[in-house]
Amino acid sequence: MLDLSALPPGFIWGAATAAYQIEGAAAEDGRKPSIWDTFSHTPGAVDNGDTGDVACDHYHRWPEDVALMRRLNLDAYRFSIAWPRVLPDGVGTVNQAGLDFYDRLVDALLAAGIRPFVTLYHWDLPQALQDAGGWPNRATAEAFADYAAVVAGRLGDRVADWNTVNEPLCVSWIGHLDGRMAPGERDLTRAVHTSHHVLLGHGLVNQAIRASAPLAPNVGIVCNLSPIEPGSDRPEDVAAAVRADGHTNRWWLDPVFGRGYPADMIECYGVEPPVRAGDLDVIASATEFLGINYYFRQIVVDDPAGTAPFARQIPVPGSVETAMPWEVYARGLQDILVGVTETYNPASILVTENGSAWYDTVESSGEIQDKERTDYLEQHLEAVRDAVLRGAPVDGYFAWSLLDNFEWAYGYDKRFGLIHVDYDTQVRTIKASGYRYADLITAHKRSRD
Ligand code: IFM
Repeated sequence: MLDLSALPPGFIWGAATAAYQIEGAAAEDGRKPSIWDTFSHTPGAVDNGDTGDVACDHYHRWPEDVALMRRLNLDAYRFSIAWPRVLPDGVGTVNQAGLDFYDRLVDALLAAGIRPFVTLYHWDLPQALQDAGGWPNRATAEAFADYAAVVAGRLGDRVADWNTVNEPLCVSWIGHLDGRMAPGERDLTRAVHTSHHVLLGHGLVNQAIRASAPLAPNVGIVCNLSPIEPGSDRPEDVAAAVRADGHTNRWWLDPVFGRGYPADMIECYGVEPPVRAGDLDVIASATEFLGINYYFRQIVVDDPAGTAPFARQIPVPGSVETAMPWEVYARGLQDILVGVTETYNPASILVTENGSAWYDTVESSGEIQDKERTDYLEQHLEAVRDAVLRGAPVDGYFAWSLLDNFEWAYGYDKRFGLIHVDYDTQVRTIKASGYRYADLITAHKRSRD
């Protein structure tokens, strides 16, 4: 029996989603396209030609989804705001109808006793801002802060918990270097410039929330981190692992924790981030927590013919893999939580995402007995508990994801949800993993009474 009683008494139990992955209603109530609308409608960009046009239709079905959150016994729900609903052109005129949607959602969550954790940027940049230069352009960071002030001005009397940016690595490296996510660019200089402006945006937004929101703010950036190991003892592979760690982990955490950009990585990229006087202080401005998303570790070898950071991930023979296919390695979550604590000493950590995709089967009874997802959940919660026992200040866990949803370039085939979505009918069904999560939440609360 999994014993989670070592988790702190006020531990926050949540689940997470993102706007473009669940909302649908892509052209409703004044919303204009984001870079993900453009990308998903680009032939060949997304598996099966899937788009977020309808997704889980959460824009219309949110009352049902809030009721499902209650059934899962959640304390908190982490969701993102679609910037192009609030400011359809990215800047300028505020679309009140877009804000009204989030206003109603926040009220419903609070009425259900569920704490709203709002992510301000989960990758859906208004297309108009992309057309004006996108994240490689410094003005986008400034526009991000203006947008955040609008949202905080409307929701900040009820929302205290804010995530600034979700996964700057994906925005920068996957969106602008690998080209596998919107806007689909492959340009190292633009990617490095993006990384700086996304981090600058995080700092500016942190400051804007403090200036606009009446409640004592609880703010953090969300980084997807991986423990990195060399594939062999060869010096080249050991050096590749150091570079992969720089690319995945240190490039984000060092500046956020006041250490500036790692010099070895600037040398590796051969590109200076476009830092202006004062930027590093803004990026390092104090926040209350660090959000960590964890999915897999990386075992890497030297890859001199590849692109920066010239390290190639290799498969782990004999490992269990999810549908992504990502290795199941719960120990990596413990290692990341403890390692970040030892290196950066954050006041508080939230596991803002963790979860797994599997090819679920709907039984003739209608049930979904997703044993692999349930095992994954239990193993990773055990890893969180063990990290807490080793001194990591972990104050919450958000399962990814509440619902099956649009898994970006993989479309709808990869199902991460605790709740199954039938995309033909939009019927939601809680999976066995969802019921297990609900029971674990209750058991933890009882253990602390
Ligand atoms: O679905 C994504 C999410 O949007 C960001 N973090 C990783 C998840 C799984 O790939």
